[in-house]
Amino acid sequence: MPNRFTLLPIAALLVAGAAFAHQDVSNPAVLARMQGMSAINDAMKTLSAMVKGDATFDADAAAGARAKLVAEIDAMPGLFAAPETDPKSEARPEIWTDPATFAARIDASRVAVAALDTATLESLAAGFTTVGLSCKGCHDSFRQRK
Ligand code: HEC
Repeated sequence: MPNRFTLLPIAALLVAGAAFAHQDVSNPAVLARMQGMSAINDAMKTLSAMVKGDATFDADAAAGARAKLVAEIDAMPGLFAAPETDPKSEARPEIWTDPATFAARIDASRVAVAALDTATLESLAAGFTTVGLSCKGCHDSFRQRK
């Protein structure tokens, strides 16, 4: 299937890479939030594959991935509540020095996912970019890639 939708550069960047090494993370609180982000990433990959035409659209799978996003975003405030750190962590200290902005970024993702309609490929594609941009919007300020 040819690429019918135009969101792809951002979406591809976000979900590229993928195998996250967690074995050297010694702080369980940091590991937990990394695992949450990995689960979010898996859900985004499921959705982006459909949008790109690499996977056949499956409304049930899309709804499942969306539900995973909702649950993981709901868990974010708790996972990041304490200023836990680890040599492997990519979290920036601004998460805890500017908690209002961090909370606003979580809300932006929550709103984008709430608006994501997974009923059809067209509606999924229409909402997917906003979700991807919400990930990037937080990472740009609060995640330091290592
Ligand atoms: C409110 C801020 C915020 C939002 C929204 C957010 N992230 Fe993150 N993300 C982070 C932070 C901070 C880290 C670094 C955590 C650490 O290493 O301690 C991270 C790490 C990650 C990682 C690396 C996980 C690992 O195992 O090291 C992936 C993958 C990821 N995010 C994907 C996503 C995707 C996809 C979305 C959107 C659906 C998203 N994130 C939304 C803040 C956010």
